[in-house]
Amino acid sequence: MSIKQNLESLLTTPAPHFSVREAEQIAAEFFGLSGTATALDSERDLNFHLATEDGDQYVIKIANNAEDPAIIDMQLKALEHIAHVAPDLPVPKVVLSNEGKLVEEAKAADGRTHPVRVMSYLPGIYPEEEYFSEDFYHQMGNFLARTAKALQGFFHPIANYELLWDLKHASNLRKYLGYVEDPKHYELAEKFLDRFEKHVLPLIPKLRAQIVHNDLVPNNLLVGKEDHGKIVGIIDFGDLTHTSLIIDLAVTIADTISVDSDAAEVAAQITAGYHEINPLEETELRVLYDLVGTRLVMLNLIAIWRVTLHPDNYDYIMSGVDPTWVILEQWLELDPEQVTRRLLRTCGFWEQKHIEKASRESYQSLLDRREQLLGPLAYLFYDQPLHIVRGEGVWLYDRDNIRYLDVYNNVPQVGHCHPHVVNRIAEQAGLLNTSTRYLHEHILELAERITARLPEKLSICSFVCTGSEANELAWIMAKLVSGNTGALITHHSYHGSTDAIGQFSPESLPAGKVPPHVRTLDPPTSNSNWSKPDAGIRNAIRAMEVDGHQPAMCLLDTSFVSDGIFTAPKGYLKALFAATRAAGGLCVADEVQGGFGRFGENFWGFEYDEVIPDIVTMGKPMGNGHPIAAVVTTAEIAEALARDRGYFNTFGGNPVSCAAGLAVLDVIEKEGLQENALKVGVYLVKGLEDLRKDFPVLGPIHGSGLLLGIDVFSNSGEPDGERADQIMNNMRQNHVLVGTTGEKSNVLKIRPPLVFEKEHADILLVALKRALEETQR
Ligand SMILES: Cc1ncc(COP(=O)(O)O)c(C=O)c1O
Repeated sequence: MSIKQNLESLLTTPAPHFSVREAEQIAAEFFGLSGTATALDSERDLNFHLATEDGDQYVIKIANNAEDPAIIDMQLKALEHIAHVAPDLPVPKVVLSNEGKLVEEAKAADGRTHPVRVMSYLPGIYPEEEYFSEDFYHQMGNFLARTAKALQGFFHPIANYELLWDLKHASNLRKYLGYVEDPKHYELAEKFLDRFEKHVLPLIPKLRAQIVHNDLVPNNLLVGKEDHGKIVGIIDFGDLTHTSLIIDLAVTIADTISVDSDAAEVAAQITAGYHEINPLEETELRVLYDLVGTRLVMLNLIAIWRVTLHPDNYDYIMSGVDPTWVILEQWLELDPEQVTRRLLRTCGFWEQKHIEKASRESYQSLLDRREQLLGPLAYLFYDQPLHIVRGEGVWLYDRDNIRYLDVYNNVPQVGHCHPHVVNRIAEQAGLLNTSTRYLHEHILELAERITARLPEKLSICSFVCTGSEANELAWIMAKLVSGNTGALITHHSYHGSTDAIGQFSPESLPAGKVPPHVRTLDPPTSNSNWSKPDAGIRNAIRAMEVDGHQPAMCLLDTSFVSDGIFTAPKGYLKALFAATRAAGGLCVADEVQGGFGRFGENFWGFEYDEVIPDIVTMGKPMGNGHPIAAVVTTAEIAEALARDRGYFNTFGGNPVSCAAGLAVLDVIEKEGLQENALKVGVYLVKGLEDLRKDFPVLGPIHGSGLLLGIDVFSNSGEPDGERADQIMNNMRQNHVLVGTTGEKSNVLKIRPPLVFEKEHADILLVALKRALEETQR
């Protein structure tokens, strides 16, 4: 009989029949143990508890005679191996027979012979669901990892047999789909089998494999009789097999989740406990979601098939099936990427360190000292300014450990204090930091990775420290190459704080103070003239000429944040670029605000139109808070500047800054943050649109991805900056941080770190609704 046939016959062959007395005789005759036997629950084998007169306790296991002797041999040898390499692990100890054998043969009254083995009985009781806690899940992970580690060096020739319960063969389960009667359940099972074949199967050859327990589930654990929260034993090595290591963990998670548990939390806790002892690899964590779903499908498909073979055992076999369908539905409702991201973070790929230093100084004293030391230039956000001491992901924590949802900051692009960025910065700071006057790999890799994301002709990078410096350098290049002296910008834009660039930042200039060499254009707002950008820019150029200037550059924040947050509509940039070039100027895309994936659909804002800028500037999110910015341009422009005067920036492009820049790109790519911006952005816009139906003071929503603006109007339909300010402050009081922007300051600015998930969008929507209700006039 082939092993595969054997599997099915094992599940179909009836369990052995021996009486309690017969069991006692077997123990005495073969193992020299005399005592009192009692029958234990078992499905396909027959098990007895044996208590000897001197107080020792054993389990007599009489196997189904369809069980392959080699598999029994493997299980016993595995237990012997564990006893040798991990004596502290509470697993049963194998008792050798009088003849020194692991297994003896016993003949039943029906004439069939059965393999018999004896092992020590572990004290303890089965855990009930009510004992489950964070600590319990953590312990489960720990015990599973200890078992896997103990089995690392173990092998057995039969280990690679095709076990029905081995998830790597989950495709074989398709043949049982026909037993599923409810079409909804059929679809659910098929969906996970499809996902398994698409996302997991191709990776199996790359995953670490070894012999694993493969069934370390609550029913195979024992907890203390007194201390129900403490795991004291691991039993049942009947599903031992050679398979992917991560499958072992998926089995434990799937079989531990219950209908009422927070499945993602349970998975994270067990995984954390596992990772602590036996560190997992990233690829393993990436397939865990699908493996858990597939295991849940496996439990039900095998049960539904088996009950057709043993209809008399219906209640026992089918007891878990209904709840498992519900769990499976709940698992499907979770966002796989979100679960995976959480698991990755749990396992310290992006490990978070909690360093908290509470300030002893009073809030008022800080305010006073700040005013005294920083003066009136340093204003603070919100009527009641915040004293933030810690950040993590999308959360900011104040001195009292109250957390605020950060829907405002785009500098921490990949989440506050993202551990990967923090670690890369720290590592490099401990190794070397110098100017760019020496050869170094980091700056080259960063330049390569940035230019790879830009049109081919934009091939030369200059690294600086701030967006202002980047735009200043772009201005120097533009003036030099064009020979002109004027600049074109949008009406209420902001591009930086240096003397030259400050002139291109009407948002922070007193009204009417835009100098004569600067002319402003309509941003692409819904109610402005953007649909006729050609006429607008021609007029602007003409007006500039009257004052003796030609445009050296047209500098556009491609997300138009200060103008109110807009995404360039098709044709807008194209028209402005064409008119600028016709007048001899260069086209500069300022990606300081929106670049690096925030738009969701595109990595850069200029990509919304068919244009190639002459210069792209970038900054803010580039280092997740570390000051790094860059100018990328063509070889010709860079050469022109090199011939004329050159450029040097002491801190720009230093190895530490570049490590930060590289780490940010790593996270954007590995965590799929651009895709997340798109997905959560769409979800959020839908929620905001729904809210607008009940609150007419909310106007149009504009922007893309996770860079959105929403207008606030007065009851009479006028832009209402005061109301927007009240809403913003109300939300701050309710621990959700947004900003305002736009010429009339009446646009709510939504610009969170890109690790913002749907659940955070829901929190934002609830807070906004509340603010709208509470500020109603
Ligand atoms: C579009 C744009 N460009 C440039 C800058 C200037 O960047 P930095 O403050 O890093 O000098 C800003 C700053 O807010 C900006 O929004």
